[in-house]
Amino acid sequence: MDGNGRWAQERNLSRIDGHRAGAESVRTIVRACRRIGIPVLTLYAFSKENWQRPSREVQALWRLLRDYLKSELGEMMENNIRLNALGDIDELPRNVNRLLRDVMSKTATNNEMILNLALSYSGRSEIIRATQRLAAACVAQQLSPVEINESTFSAYLYTGDMPDPDLLIRTSGERRISNFLLWQTAYTELYVSPVYWPDFREPQLMEALEDYQRRERRFGRTREQRAKEVW
Ligand code: FPP
Repeated sequence: MDGNGRWAQERNLSRIDGHRAGAESVRTIVRACRRIGIPVLTLYAFSKENWQRPSREVQALWRLLRDYLKSELGEMMENNIRLNALGDIDELPRNVNRLLRDVMSKTATNNEMILNLALSYSGRSEIIRATQRLAAACVAQQLSPVEINESTFSAYLYTGDMPDPDLLIRTSGERRISNFLLWQTAYTELYVSPVYWPDFREPQLMEALEDYQRRERRFGRTREQRAKEVW
């Protein structure tokens, strides 16, 4: 969700104002995705690297997250949305962590859409964590090393048995992966929007989805092979 800072700067506002406007885009985009029928939406809200930002900004982000969770729980329940966190959420301030876990547990059986929030998340750390957990399972003889394959490995990631993302949207013209879902995005289609996140609303989402619909996904196979599989 890039570009909050630049959006604010261009309006002579503070970076925190930019994040506040960004939180409004979060509300709009979650609603739109639910209506369209997107089964899983993952928002990269805070990376492990973001801890290095000024503490005032970091604190403001946690306040915005807290407000968001409080104000959206009702709508998540009404719309059958399950909230899930990806990342090291024990690093979050205690009150945010508690609220997040509470919303996750209240929405745990909702099954129309999963809203993943990546918080204190790093793709490389996620892979290391999965490796450590796999190694521990082997040591405890719950798993044999020969049983480790792509699907067992995936199951040990934060995303567990969720499907890999079809589309990755990057806002504000950035053309980097920035440590996001490194394993899961192996075959994901990338879409770069020049628009800053606070201005990324439903028309921009629709444009991204229409662009995605025109893509041809071959997963390493030929066009003819893929056509046979699809039909
Ligand atoms: C990156 O833009 C954005 C963030 C690090 C924070 C994203 C947070 C929100 C949109 C609001 C809170 C989240 C929720 C889920 C309610 P940037 O600050 O790097 O922008 P810049 O590249 O223009 O400086």
